[in-house]
Order: sequence, then C-alpha cells, then structure tokens
Amino acid sequence: MSIIKQNFEKMNITKIKQSKNKRKLTMITAYDALFANLFEEFADMILVGDSLNMSFAGHDDTLSANLEQMIYHTNAVCNGAKDAFVIIDMPFGTYSDKNIALKNAIKVYTKTNANAIKIEGGEDKACIIEHLTKNSIAVMGHIGLMPQYVRSEGGYKVKGKTKQEEEQLIKDAKAIESAGAFALVIEGVKSEVAKKISQSISIPTIGIGAGKDTDGQVLVWSDMLGFFDKFKPKFVRRYLDGASLVKSAVSQYRDDVQRGDFPNEDEEY
Ligand code: KIV
Repeated sequence: MSIIKQNFEKMNITKIKQSKNKRKLTMITAYDALFANLFEEFADMILVGDSLNMSFAGHDDTLSANLEQMIYHTNAVCNGAKDAFVIIDMPFGTYSDKNIALKNAIKVYTKTNANAIKIEGGEDKACIIEHLTKNSIAVMGHIGLMPQYVRSEGGYKVKGKTKQEEEQLIKDAKAIESAGAFALVIEGVKSEVAKKISQSISIPTIGIGAGKDTDGQVLVWSDMLGFFDKFKPKFVRRYLDGASLVKSAVSQYRDDVQRGDFPNEDEEY
C-alpha cells in the first residue's frame, strides 16, 4: 500500500464543506472503471463529466450526452472506485424545470451509487437546485464558462472580464450557495474574479481555468494525461504525454506482429 493510499480519506459532503480554508480539494474526471480505479486514491472527488461526450464519444460539444449514457458511465466509475466520492454531471435538458430535474436526479440516485449530481447555471437555476437539495439530492453547482451553454452563447467564452459579469457571477455563486449546493465549480473565469467569488461564499469552489485561488481544482483526465493531443487549452497542465506513449507502444506492437516476433514461445499455450 502506498503512502498516499494510507492518507486516503473517503469523502462526504460534510468533509468537503469543512475543507474550505483548510486544504485544497482535488477533483478529476473519469468515465470508466479502469481509470477511476487508478485515480481513486489521489482524488477527493471523481466527476463523471458530460465532457465524456467529447473526449470519449468524439462529439464536438457536450449537448448530445443523455442520461442513460451518463448512468452507464457512472456505474462503471462507481464499480472501479468503490471508495470514491463520485459526482455525475446532469446532461443538457435533464433539469430544465424543477420537476424534471427531481425526476431525473431520483433516477440517477436509484440506478447508480453516485454521491452527488452537478448542474450548470447561476441564479436562473437556483430554484431548481433548492428543490433538489430540499428533496435530499446533493448538488454541486457550475458557473462561469458553462459548456452546455455553448450554442446559446455562441462559443466558449471566458467570464468575469467586465464589472457587470463579475457582479453577476458573485450573485450566481451566492444564489447557488443559498439554494443548498455543497460546492461550486467555477470554469473559465478571470483569476481575480474567481478569487472574489471564492471569498464571497462559504462552500468550496473548484476551479478549472479559474486561477489558483479557488478552494480546489478539477481537470479532465484525458487533457491532464495528454491523451487528447489535438490542442491544449491554456489552463491545462499535462502531467503525462499519454498520446505519444500510446502511439509508440502500439507501433512497437505492430512491428512485432509484422516481424513475426509476437507472440513468442513464452506467450503461447
Ligand atoms: O464535463 C466536465 O468534465 C466538467 C468539468 C470540465 C468541470 O464539467
């Protein structure tokens, strides 16, 4: 057992909330049992992000992800990482009003072992979040650059560039906290604004492209491990050159097959 595994602490929403101003939280996405199992001991939270619709299913945006697909991947993640605190992204269209949101959240809770759901939106979604939290659903909010708004906003836009945007983001964060969310993702927001948002609420903020002053960070696994190599967003730090390693390994395999070098005597029955 590694030292980090010995330090591993199974999280719950109380511990997540209590970590504010004490220690930074680490969140990573996972979409399957294999990688979830590898990440589990190092992450406070694993997010089954609807980003899987892009990085896993090859679509151009997250909008066509559906609930069945998210439930399938969440079950895989929960199976691979039984001790992890797992959050499932509610896909586009599954929380368009409070009754639809509750019906779909209950479906998620009854069909998976997910610990919480995440929904995108600010003040406009506060009454939906309140309805969910009052019905015992643990909710993580998500403000700033919200991938599910890509078509309605005409692209992925960094937020917090004007005073008006800054004020709206702070209002959004406060509304989400008052609605009972236990944590808040802040994506694609100017660092100084993300800092002010984090200081203005008492639940932890988890940043992605939001600078260092949020209460934690989240990265999409295929970005941070370099498996997605078409382009690197500015905010991503690559901890592995996954794409090159995989390509080199698979080309060695092909060469071995072509030379008749694989399998050898030790690798046959
Ligand atoms: O879908 C996702 O992976 C996300 C993260 C980028 C926060 O929402």
